[in-house]
Amino acid sequence: LPVTDFQHQLLAWANTQGRHDLPWQQSPSPYSVLVSEIMLQQTQVATVIPYFERWMVSFPTVEILAAADEDQVMAHWQGLGYYSRARNLHKAAKYVVDNCQGQFPADLAGLEAIPGVGRYTAGAIMSFAYDGYGPIVDGNVKRLFCRFFAIEGQINSSKVVKQLWQLAEQYTPTTESALSNRNFAQALLDMGATLCKPKNPDCAVCPLQQHCQALRLDRVSELPTPKPK
Ligand code: ADE
Repeated sequence: LPVTDFQHQLLAWANTQGRHDLPWQQSPSPYSVLVSEIMLQQTQVATVIPYFERWMVSFPTVEILAAADEDQVMAHWQGLGYYSRARNLHKAAKYVVDNCQGQFPADLAGLEAIPGVGRYTAGAIMSFAYDGYGPIVDGNVKRLFCRFFAIEGQINSSKVVKQLWQLAEQYTPTTESALSNRNFAQALLDMGATLCKPKNPDCAVCPLQQHCQALRLDRVSELPTPKPK
């Protein structure tokens, strides 16, 4: 399937079937995207929503977060788990204030220089906040791509991860494209999370079904390759 057809099918699907009312989608800034993506790393959307809303009320800007007490920051994370995320987020805010005059970088390399910001989070900030070129590979994208391209092998092996990032770079709309990178990134995550699910994916209503290699090979239930027991 040509890259542009993949992009258009995904976007058309998301237009009617995607999520448009998540709180971090409402007026995304680099700061609010960083907060939401760090929260969403190990936590379900429904759990994150009230935490994100409380966080943005108490720490509405990167400057306010940077200046906040560690105790106050940790109190807002209470119940979310993986508490190093909160400490890293605080550290990231201090870095942006101290080293970038409070302005988030607007390129992938600059974003990846922020402590705790990896390739995925940098791509998410580029696409969601700046509506720019920002390939993203998270668990949802891994599963969707492993099926669509019938990629065999351990999903977290360096060989497979490298392939998945190459595909993400190739399939993400470029800066010359008229398509919205923000909408594309959200569409990819939404399709992975709600249609191309780990169990019982909704292949019958998938707009990519005619081009999905796993479906064609009848290997949907076997891809991505499960972890060895
Ligand atoms: N999971 C990770 N990032 C997400 C986002 N921006 N929206 C919904 N689910 C997500």
